Amino acid sequence: MPEFRKWILARHPVGLPERDCFALEPCALSDIREGEVLIKVDYFSLDPGMRGRLSGDSYAAGLKIGDTIESAGVGTVLESKSDKFAPGDVVSGALGWSEATVHRDRGLKIIEPSLLSKHVSATAFIGVLGVPGLTAWFGLNDLGRPSEGDTLLISSAAGPVGATCGQLGKHMGLKVVGIAGGPEKCAYLQTLGFDDTIDYKADMPLETAIAAACAEGVNIFFDNVGAETLDAALVNMAAGGRIVVSGQVAEYNRQNPVGIREVTRFITHRLRMEGLVVYDYAPKFTDAIGQMAELINAGKLAYTEDIIAGIENAPDAYAGLFGGENLGRRLIKT
Ligand SMILES: NC(=O)c1ccc[n+]([C@@H]2O[C@H](COP(=O)([O-])OP(=O)(O)OC[C@H]3O[C@@H](n4cnc5c(N)ncnc54)[C@H](OP(=O)(O)O)[C@@H]3O)[C@@H](O)[C@H]2O)c1
Repeated sequence: MPEFRKWILARHPVGLPERDCFALEPCALSDIREGEVLIKVDYFSLDPGMRGRLSGDSYAAGLKIGDTIESAGVGTVLESKSDKFAPGDVVSGALGWSEATVHRDRGLKIIEPSLLSKHVSATAFIGVLGVPGLTAWFGLNDLGRPSEGDTLLISSAAGPVGATCGQLGKHMGLKVVGIAGGPEKCAYLQTLGFDDTIDYKADMPLETAIAAACAEGVNIFFDNVGAETLDAALVNMAAGGRIVVSGQVAEYNRQNPVGIREVTRFITHRLRMEGLVVYDYAPKFTDAIGQMAELINAGKLAYTEDIIAGIENAPDAYAGLFGGENLGRRLIKT
């Protein structure tokens, strides 16, 4: 068998995760047992939300030193001792930052060839049809409580969660405004049909730019960023506005969070702010994936992938997410 490698946690990061927080090691792949499959990992994801698990301050269990870095992946079954999977099956699941893994036959899904099309790639199942897309879907539909004509403001709008959320918002008849870093990302959002964009690195101060783009006030703020961006949105919320707390990417590497200052607006404008854990909606995933796949195949929901080749590049590519390097879903091709 060829030698496969995986990234493990070498030390818990403080601040931006540096390369020496990770160690690249050979996979010790023991013989597979009953109920297990051996998978060659073809792609794995890099997720900003994993940051909390690296230092152990997430809602999900933190990683211990020596643990394989967790992520979603797409792979091919090489060997199987399970009646659910056969060699050659293409599967998605929590495969980790790894070139190969032995996995229980639970928690894996076969990506049937019939689900793939010229619009839907296998990697879509760990992107727009995986956790990022589902976060957009349930955050907007359930916590955002959209009504036609509402103004939807999205932070980190050019990321996989934000870009999906904005397109879904347009299909619901919302006015959609995206905040992103730089002219290239703002131009990308225009191609997706966003009504307006704000380049938070140039359009300053941010609260004035939001006021100009959202003249009637913001009914739904879908927040992936937090901190100063959240305060700038808060002072522009319309009465009865909903704030969906999807992520806090500006806070993840800070030891002392900036937090929220503009709390009074909650009282004066009767605002509601609610956090999302996408896995709470797991029983409804299949239906949502089906509906989003239909939109993709009809050319009504686009997604972009930012694929980097080589497992050895994973730590730098991960840190780059916090510098805004990615346009779309960042994946490693092993
Ligand atoms: N609640 C849930 O269940 C759930 C599930 C999945 C993901 N999430 C969250 O959803 C959010 C979006 O995830 P994603 O996968 O689509 O990733 P993403 O938005 O592509 O995240 C990376 C982007 O965040 C922006 N960013 C990074 N540091 C920033 C900072 N300090 N200030 C402002 N913007 C910054 C950058 O875009 P710019 O260049 O535009 O700044 C960067 O390209 C994340 O916060 C993630 O944790 C939540």
